[in-house]
Amino acid sequence: MNPFTSIPQHIAIIMDGNGRWAKSRGLPRGEGHRAGAESVREAIDACKELGVKYLTLYAFSSENWNRPQTEVSALMILLEKFLKSRAPDLMRQNVKLDVIGQIDRLPESTRQTLRRVMEQTAENDSLTLVLALSYGSREEITAAARKLAQGVTEGRWKPEDITPELLASHLDTAAMPDPDLLIRTSGEMRVSNFLLWQISYAEMVIVDTFWPDFRQGDLFEAVKEYQKRHRRFGGL
Ligand code: FPP
Repeated sequence: MNPFTSIPQHIAIIMDGNGRWAKSRGLPRGEGHRAGAESVREAIDACKELGVKYLTLYAFSSENWNRPQTEVSALMILLEKFLKSRAPDLMRQNVKLDVIGQIDRLPESTRQTLRRVMEQTAENDSLTLVLALSYGSREEITAAARKLAQGVTEGRWKPEDITPELLASHLDTAAMPDPDLLIRTSGEMRVSNFLLWQISYAEMVIVDTFWPDFRQGDLFEAVKEYQKRHRRFGGL
């Protein structure tokens, strides 16, 4: 990768393929998620090394609630374990934790752990790690539309005051720049209700690697690919 051309400020990742990784090894799906948590560490380290400012990971979608209860619980426990065990590293690496999604749907112990690590890392400012949890983009945009409609009803805005900027300021991601690069693992060509508004101009890189096999080098390769693209934002 060329350090003299642009490094994406914000990378978003659809971490896919944990189940297939496990199946290909004759292991239960939970083992795939466990191995996937290791890849999260790799992605954080790679972003730190490059100077990326935001890393958003699709860790649990609003549709993932439809998975068997045992898998949902295992994922929540894994997430809590990950946060508890990685908190000292996040501090050492100056990484701030943030979340987007319908957090109030998560189990109380998961919310508590998230709150604690977010408070602990609140002043860190080198990389912001954003976990999308119980996240769905349509739900997020609908919630923003509802708040705007409420504002119109209460006379705070007129319908013509509603601009893309005003809508964006009511999304969970209001405080962050849009992703420059969207990576999806395991070869699927879908966006799966992830950051639909925010990825309007993102470069997409799809890699065949299953998420548990994703290493720092894979992220560097994706950034190299990004650097080859000529971003025009609809202009010439
Ligand atoms: C998609 O693979 C992955 C998920 C639904 C969960 C992502 C979770 C992790 C990577 C582990 C822990 C996360 C953190 C932040 C510590 P899939 O199960 O849909 O795979 P498949 O499509 O092959 O079945």
